[in-house]
Amino acid sequence: TLRWTRSLQLTLAVIKPDAVAHPIISEAVHQKILNNNFLIVKSKELKWRIDESQNFYHEHQGRFFYQRLAEFMSSGPMRAYILAHEDAIQLWRKLMGPTKVFKARIDAPETVRGELGLTDTRNTTHGSDSVDSACREISFFFPDFNVSRWYEKEEPLYRTGPLCYDEE
Ligand code: TYD
Ligand code: MG
Repeated sequence: TLRWTRSLQLTLAVIKPDAVAHPIISEAVHQKILNNNFLIVKSKELKWRIDESQNFYHEHQGRFFYQRLAEFMSSGPMRAYILAHEDAIQLWRKLMGPTKVFKARIDAPETVRGELGLTDTRNTTHGSDSVDSACREISFFFPDFNVSRWYEKEEPLYRTGPLCYDEE
């Protein structure tokens, strides 16, 4: 069968309060997004109440950093992005680098967290880690955005690259 060689995937990226507090830092992250050819589908600045923060990170409830994380993530404004790219989820995770900043600085100093992260909690950015979490997190941040509708109606408009035949 004929198919397009390139299609787009969505992810949720967030510039966390530590970075938004410093315009030069958040600008550097924004540039990283542009330099890597992400399509910015939507973007907004927002600030969470503590219960929104706890809710978003409920999978980490009970871990030693949970309270600190919840307080930090509701401590100031964030910038959220819906990003599209052929390999959006994995590419953004790779550009962010490891969760723990001291590991990031040593193993991946060229990543966002390696370069700009302050601590394991104040680690500059968030990124979805799977197709399911991207879908859930996009809806959490952008309740009016219909993910499946985007894949149905918008994504086909961005398909490019040579048409080719599938192996089968
Ligand atoms: P996690 O989902 O493990 O990392 P990632 O953001 O890379 O997906 O953890 C969520 C957030 O919790 C993480 O970005 C920062 C915070 N956190 C800490 O503060 N200390 C820790 O030891 C860990 C593992 C996470
Ligand atoms: Mg995570």
